[in-house]
Amino acid sequence: MDMLKVNNYIKSFKHLIQENAVNSFTGELKVGVDLGTANIVISVLDKENNPIAAASTGASVVRDGLVLDYVGAVEIVKKLKEDIEERLGKKLTYTAAAVPPGTIGGNRRIIANICESAYMEVVNIIDEPSAAASVLHIDEGAVVDVGGGTTGISILKDGKVIYTADEPTGGTHMSLVLAGYYKISFEEAEKLKRDNKREQEVFPIIKPVVERMASIVKNHISGYEVNKIYLVGGACSFNDFEKTFERELGIATLKPVDPLLVTPLGIAMNCCK
Ligand SMILES: Nc1ncnc2c1ncn2[C@@H]1O[C@H](COP(=O)(O)OP(=O)(O)OP(=O)(O)O)[C@@H](O)[C@H]1O
Ligand SMILES: [Mg+2]
Repeated sequence: MDMLKVNNYIKSFKHLIQENAVNSFTGELKVGVDLGTANIVISVLDKENNPIAAASTGASVVRDGLVLDYVGAVEIVKKLKEDIEERLGKKLTYTAAAVPPGTIGGNRRIIANICESAYMEVVNIIDEPSAAASVLHIDEGAVVDVGGGTTGISILKDGKVIYTADEPTGGTHMSLVLAGYYKISFEEAEKLKRDNKREQEVFPIIKPVVERMASIVKNHISGYEVNKIYLVGGACSFNDFEKTFERELGIATLKPVDPLLVTPLGIAMNCCK
């Protein structure tokens, strides 16, 4: 994996989100919808996987791949899709979607139904860590996706996911710890947690949560030959997160820039009509 190349790729995607920008394109597009616990993101790439457009919003309509508010989710996806269509001057008619590892049956179907209710045919449903692995260009190692509600663990071998697990710990857990420590509301704790300027003060307080996450990961990967851990998901954004993981696990741990955007990008990469 060429981390510099991966980071530049993610940065070019982030630029589109931040600036509401669109890159010029020719031919068919690839689309991905990420229905996360904390964020919903639509990503648009061209056939060569160059980022073309994206839109994202904070939302709490889905929890860990389970839909809490179907109508709300459809409304958000429709709105993000319309925003992008307006900027692109082109309709988005199909998409890929993703689910946490181990999601089966009706829960898988309902994620697709949301996209279809927003008038996009779902051409592929993949699991989130496989989406992340596409962006990282890896076929060995463990992908750990620390999201809002859950932490997904996937072990890859020869390009295939050979083990997956989903644990109920993530960024929400960290915010709850901060809220308790400072005796502030959850919303205030969320804000404090994301304030880069206060990271030095905040990280030691949530560090035990991170260490606990690392020990959970350790249990899952024991018995497998894992030489590298790749961190993705918004909740591992802290500077010292990977160091803490590496110390607990004794395994080289890598994190790309803006880990929050990796899975959304990877979903669109896997949009194959
Ligand atoms: N700069 C930051 N520092 C710390 N935490 C952050 C930062 N930015 C986002 N987060 C946290 O990351 C989490 C959201 O990450 P992400 O978008 O990967 O989750 P999700 O895909 O919506 O959730 P899930 O995968 O669990 O369904 C939230 O808990 C959020 O508070
Ligand atoms: Mg996620």
